[in-house]
Amino acid sequence: MASSAVLFPSFVWFLYLFCFLCSLPLAICKEAENDRHALLCFKSRLSGPAGVLASWSNKSFDVCEWHGITCSKPYPRRVIALDLESEGISGSISPCVANLTSITRLQLSNNNFSGGIPSEIGLLRRLRDLDLSRNNLEGNIPPSLGSSSSLTYVNLGVNALTGVIPESLAYSSSLRILWLNSNSLGGKLPKALFNTSSLVDISLQQNNLVGSIPVVTTTSPPIEYLDLSDNHISGKLPSSLGNLSSLVDLRLTGNNLVGSIPESLGYISPLQILTLTANNLSGTVPPSLFNMSSLTFLSLGNNSLVGRLPPNISYTLPNIQTLVLSTNKFDGPIPASLPKAYNLRRLYLYNNTLTEFIPFFGSLPNLEELDLSYNRLET
Ligand SMILES: *[C@@H]1O[C@H](CO)[C@@H](O)[C@H](O)[C@H]1NC(C)=O
Ligand SMILES: *[C@@H]1O[C@H](CO)[C@@H](O)[C@H](O)[C@H]1NC(C)=O
Ligand SMILES: *[C@@H]1O[C@H](CO)[C@@H](O)[C@H](O)[C@H]1NC(C)=O
Ligand SMILES: *[C@@H]1O[C@H](CO)[C@@H](O)[C@H](O)[C@H]1NC(C)=O
Ligand SMILES: *[C@@H]1O[C@H](CO)[C@@H](O)[C@H](O)[C@H]1NC(C)=O
Ligand SMILES: *[C@@H]1O[C@H](CO)[C@@H](O)[C@H](O)[C@H]1NC(C)=O
Ligand SMILES: *[C@@H]1O[C@H](CO)[C@@H](O)[C@H](O)[C@H]1NC(C)=O
Ligand SMILES: *[C@@H]1O[C@H](CO)[C@@H](O)[C@H](O)[C@H]1NC(C)=O
Ligand SMILES: *[C@@H]1O[C@H](CO)[C@@H](O)[C@H](O)[C@H]1NC(C)=O
Ligand SMILES: *[C@@H]1O[C@H](CO)[C@@H](O)[C@H](O)[C@H]1NC(C)=O
Repeated sequence: MASSAVLFPSFVWFLYLFCFLCSLPLAICKEAENDRHALLCFKSRLSGPAGVLASWSNKSFDVCEWHGITCSKPYPRRVIALDLESEGISGSISPCVANLTSITRLQLSNNNFSGGIPSEIGLLRRLRDLDLSRNNLEGNIPPSLGSSSSLTYVNLGVNALTGVIPESLAYSSSLRILWLNSNSLGGKLPKALFNTSSLVDISLQQNNLVGSIPVVTTTSPPIEYLDLSDNHISGKLPSSLGNLSSLVDLRLTGNNLVGSIPESLGYISPLQILTLTANNLSGTVPPSLFNMSSLTFLSLGNNSLVGRLPPNISYTLPNIQTLVLSTNKFDGPIPASLPKAYNLRRLYLYNNTLTEFIPFFGSLPNLEELDLSYNRLET
């Protein structure tokens, strides 16, 4: 064929130039050649829409031209990223990926990968970003991931993973973002999770986690986002949670938490979003919680909380946009100052035992939803 006749000499020329430019030792060329073998081996377990991986073939020598591949600039050019997000690919993740020894990003999100996560991925010393989310992966999270010293971002969310969260991930000194949401992970939260010096964003919602929330033993871990919603976490909220002093967003909705809300939560000054909805929390709400100027979203609905709402709540929660206190046992009047909470968009006070008159909410310019039903209010 004419095309291959043209291709072949240029292929040889390329090989020659390539090895010349990397000025040998041959071992270096061999590493680049290993990348090629590893990618072809990775491909051998995949199927997908025709065309997606058509460029991945023996006919095209330069892997840097293959679909989804990024190479380093200096010679020898090594594969540093594999991006195959939303390509409709089915198949399993071959342990061969562990031979891509220079890879920094593995992005396979939103495909139809099935089978397990190969533990060999933990051998990749340079891997920074691992995104295998939104596939059909099953089995355990390999503990070896925690020993990968460059790893900063792990997203395994929306798969069918089982087993426990490896303690090694909590001990990782490089990991900043850990998203394992919407799987079937069980067991307890790793004890070291809140003793981290690197984790900033932890999403573990919609799993089957059990046990209680571990005590926070460090002064101010860097955690800003923590979502443990929709698990089976039980026990009390430890007052040491207040030591998570960098928190911006804390979500504990839909667990089996009992006891009272610790006062210490109200002293987390950056906190903007707090949801403790649908637990079995009781007692009064500590005044410190209604006194958080940063708070925009507070949801305490579906618990057994009692007491009166503070009279000057609109001054002490000046930025509140959503306030959900429905289905509790709050009593007393609706605070007369509430219609001055200028930013208020959604206010749910239904199903309590609030009494007296309903204040005039017509002055609130941003109010979209207001539900005061199932109370003992006078009209
Ligand atoms: C590439 O070539 C090798 C032999 O050099 C062969 O074993 C392998 O099956 C080929 N792979 C593909 C995807 O064609
Ligand atoms: C990596 O490559 C070497 C040599 O090419 C091979 O022997 C080994 O099986 C490969 N490892 C994996 C995990 O594929
Ligand atoms: C996903 O992969 C499974 C096999 O693991 C296959 O049965 C199914 O048809 C695939 N779905 C899509 C949308 O490709
Ligand atoms: C917390 O971290 C410190 C320092 O890294 C370590 O000495 C201590 O043992 C850890 N505690 C737990 C409960 O993991
Ligand atoms: C953690 O919180 C508890 C209870 O609020 C407090 O007694 C303790 O001193 C705090 N520990 C650290 C290390 O800040
Ligand atoms: C809530 O906790 C109380 C004890 O504080 C218990 O009697 C009750 O059964 C719990 N309700 C639910 C729905 O777990
Ligand atoms: C509310 O916060 C202010 C300062 O932000 C503080 O002076 C006051 O003591 C707090 N009140 C309560 C009940 O925590
Ligand atoms: C409270 O629970 C009921 C019934 O389980 C549910 O329909 C409602 O959406 C919950 N409300 C909130 C605010 O979570
Ligand atoms: C809130 O109310 C208390 C007593 O009801 C009062 O001492 C305090 O000054 C009020 N704070 C603001 C900001 O209005
Ligand atoms: C009102 O709250 C009670 C528990 O206090 C609950 O059983 C009931 O379903 C709630 N009703 C509505 C309309 O939310």
